[in-house]
Amino acid sequence: MAEATRDRAQEVLLELRGVDKRFGATQALDDVSLEIRGGEIHAFVGENGAGKSTLGKIIAGVYAADAGAVVVNGSVIDKWNPAIAQKQGVAMIAQELALVPDLTVAQNVFLGAEQHRFGIERRNLNERFAALDAETGFGLDPRMRVRDLRIADQQKVEILRALARNARIIVMDEPTSSLTAYEMSQLENLMRALRDRGCGVIYVSHFLDSVLGVADRITVMRDGRRIESVQASTVVKHDIVTSMLGRELEQAFPERGAAPPASIPPVLRVRDLRTETGGAAMSFDVRPGEIVGLLGLVGSGRTECLRAVFGVDKTAGGSVELGGRDWTGRSPRESIEAGLVLVSEDRHKDGLVLQRSVRENIALSSLSARTRYGIVTRGSEKHVAKDLAESLQMRPPDIELPVSWFSGGNQQKALLGKALAAQPRVVILDEPTRGVDVGAKRTIYDLVARLAAEGIAVLLISSEHEEIMELAHRAYLVSGGRTFDEIIPEHTTVEDVLHRLFNVTPREETAA
Ligand SMILES: Nc1ncnc2c1ncn2[C@@H]1O[C@H](COP(=O)(O)OP(=O)(O)OP(=O)(O)O)[C@@H](O)[C@H]1O
Ligand SMILES: [Mg+2]
Repeated sequence: MAEATRDRAQEVLLELRGVDKRFGATQALDDVSLEIRGGEIHAFVGENGAGKSTLGKIIAGVYAADAGAVVVNGSVIDKWNPAIAQKQGVAMIAQELALVPDLTVAQNVFLGAEQHRFGIERRNLNERFAALDAETGFGLDPRMRVRDLRIADQQKVEILRALARNARIIVMDEPTSSLTAYEMSQLENLMRALRDRGCGVIYVSHFLDSVLGVADRITVMRDGRRIESVQASTVVKHDIVTSMLGRELEQAFPERGAAPPASIPPVLRVRDLRTETGGAAMSFDVRPGEIVGLLGLVGSGRTECLRAVFGVDKTAGGSVELGGRDWTGRSPRESIEAGLVLVSEDRHKDGLVLQRSVRENIALSSLSARTRYGIVTRGSEKHVAKDLAESLQMRPPDIELPVSWFSGGNQQKALLGKALAAQPRVVILDEPTRGVDVGAKRTIYDLVARLAAEGIAVLLISSEHEEIMELAHRAYLVSGGRTFDEIIPEHTTVEDVLHRLFNVTPREETAA
């Protein structure tokens, strides 16, 4: 695009002046001033709880500022609210998705966008949907119910919804957190296309490589304050991390502890496990004190398999053995009682009761463990929750607050706390650091290492392959719902693993 057109597009679409926002004792935003320009991808980065989502919600009119002003086209808008923001062309893809599960994909996309009193004709809608879908290359089925979509696809529906409204400012709050690498690059291209069309794109993300690759400008938030806004081309990752944390980040990963001796029998033994969705089979062992990773591309069937091991999903064949007992087809409740817990990738659907406090959420899972000894008092419950919240460095450090009061990353930590409170023997972690900032990731890695050191068996899924390569004692390679190889991460490289994952031939798969 010619320089001149780019310059013209760079007008200020929206401005925040001295915005404050408080939630109870938390100063979520403190005197934040900021410009959103057309023709620019503007990233917000910062630690969990730094105020990024709150800032996005102020821009989208979801929250009203306690002080300060929203300025559009040079004039202060008095009562900035969602309806006015939408009229001014602002759309937000929230971190916690806001779709109607029982409606179809197309219905959700056009919900509230019907300008016509009598609604838009169905045929017209289908055409418009097809056009939007083609523009993004998402390939979504308009007739599917949103409740049946995986999170990544639900995120795409939200994006289509923003496009359907012809938004000029689009706030994307961690839109990539559950996308595959391919989908992520698709989304990045979409952001660039929107920018070149003159839109102001706000991109909130913990994937700093993606931020540096796609953003024009980066605003760093810390403790509710805007620390700086810089041209992306003038900084490197290390600068951003230091600015986010306000200090240097030490080692990203803890030292890998020793693997348990080979003589110790596995506590979890899975053989030829098949789920209802996949035809292939998974086989693996995990020993007490061992961290075992499942390496695969998103969609390789790891999540489905582990959900079946835990008992949320049905098994279609094969066996699970826990502590020497047949554990095939058990219920999640039985699993938790027997010390097998799953920390799921979808913290709202499978994990937390948002209106309840962190303490209550943590207590829900550990209750059965402690009723066995007949010591359920609020005091002990509080003690356990407090301990966990401390070791997870929950922020704010107040376990009596409802989960909904915590930022996305801190909710993730609460979910982990809940699982650990059950005093498990086997912990299954599915994307445990999703949405967690670089500093807090280290807290979670330390915890994983500590669990293993205490003799707990850990099974880890992560799309950030580096996490498994740095933490796990052993790992299985998974493709098409089948474990086809086993590696010692310490003795191999990420490149080698990726090479193998992308180049599995059907013959190799069946040979394993
Ligand atoms: N609805 C709410 N009620 C109470 N407190 C809130 C609410 N929303 C946010 N907060 C608090 O405001 C602060 C900023 O939260 P925010 O969600 O903006 O953080 P964030 O930068 O988006 O973090 P993350 O990276 O974890 O998503 C946090 O301390 C959070 O606990
Ligand atoms: Mg957030």
